[in-house]
Amino acid sequence: MSVSFVQLSERIVSARGDIVKVTFSSPDVGADYPKITTRPVDMKSGRVWQAERFRENKVFHLNVKEEEAGKYFETLAAEYRQIAVFFGGETETYSRSGSGFKCKKSSNVMKVPTAAAKQNNRQKEYILREGDNIPALVDLGVFTEEFRVVSSKYDKYKQINRFIELIDDAYGDYKGEDITILDFGCGKSYLTFIVYYYFVKVRGIRAKIIGYDLKRDVVENCNKIAEKYGYTDLEFVVSDVTKDVLYDRKIDMVISLHACDTATDYALWYAVSRGVKNIFSVPCCQHEVNKSIKRGGELDVFLKYGIVKERVSALLTDTIRAMILEDYGYSVDLLEFVDLSHSPKNIMIRAKKCKNISDKNLAAVKEMTEKYSIEQTLYRLAAEDRKK
Ligand SMILES: C[S@@+](CC[C@H](N)C(=O)[O-])C[C@H]1O[C@@H](n2cnc3c(N)ncnc32)[C@H](O)[C@@H]1O
Repeated sequence: MSVSFVQLSERIVSARGDIVKVTFSSPDVGADYPKITTRPVDMKSGRVWQAERFRENKVFHLNVKEEEAGKYFETLAAEYRQIAVFFGGETETYSRSGSGFKCKKSSNVMKVPTAAAKQNNRQKEYILREGDNIPALVDLGVFTEEFRVVSSKYDKYKQINRFIELIDDAYGDYKGEDITILDFGCGKSYLTFIVYYYFVKVRGIRAKIIGYDLKRDVVENCNKIAEKYGYTDLEFVVSDVTKDVLYDRKIDMVISLHACDTATDYALWYAVSRGVKNIFSVPCCQHEVNKSIKRGGELDVFLKYGIVKERVSALLTDTIRAMILEDYGYSVDLLEFVDLSHSPKNIMIRAKKCKNISDKNLAAVKEMTEKYSIEQTLYRLAAEDRKK
């Protein structure tokens, strides 16, 4: 059966309460964005469709009021040849055919919240929900015995939910083989457990996950919890990721959440030097650039006041990291990870290996680091690698 642009738009608008997200891809020539994802969101100010529009490694956000959504979807339907409507239990994929769209339905294994279940901002959008039976999170102190979020852990709960949501964006349709993931600086491992839970329990995908951290007591506790719940392929290892020998076979994904200072650079370098396909990294405190940067040119004005210097140094650090990743063949996005009120360290570096190695950015990074006497570990590791 074929549906028209208008009918498809009406279908999306009328099913709002059951829809998790809608993606628009395969644009016609001339469309402004290669891909757009929209989600129904209940804001305090009213209901909107929140659109993320992707272009050249950047994400542009747009909130579309409910009453304007019909027109908005009609316009998109006229511009994109592939439209996937994700419900809690199934996906409807619409492919342009002649002057309308043909629909194919498939079932989702994934358990995701529907818009109807999202009563307020606290509940909405989450893959990991309060009330979900995840006893490991009780042991980790994130959930109470009744699987409610412990109030002091609410920021962490938001962070891990957002992290898993971004992984889901990349792996939502994944039906491939087992995957292997390394988590650098896993600490108490809330994220590591949830990534395991997401792949193994929610998606039914076999995943081997290794978390690395310096702290022996924390690592031992995490191993005990993993064993207690029979999370057989989840393992924690005491390691200094800046120098120890780590797992070195097939690795599909490297993750890090607030791995201190240069531990993030070593995580990125580990992934880059092995051509790991997906990287999700939220850096932590960044002292290196702030300590080393000196006056040298147009940026001097930003070095005058301590707090500005610190923030500019952090931004420069992530910019350099992204540029190096690009040179190693990654398509890179720098995303706002969570709202600043939930964590001041709120940039995620999301990178996907899809191109060959180049040296498009290296010269510019070299010039900048020399001009301002900047020391930056990922750049240093890359420069050393290029000399070999
Ligand atoms: C801020 S905590 C974040 C922990 C966890 N990822 C989270 O978000 O809850 C940073 C962790 O990185 C670990 N870490 C710092 N430097 C490290 C290194 N060189 N090798 C391994 N772990 C490191 C620390 O021990 C600490 O547990």
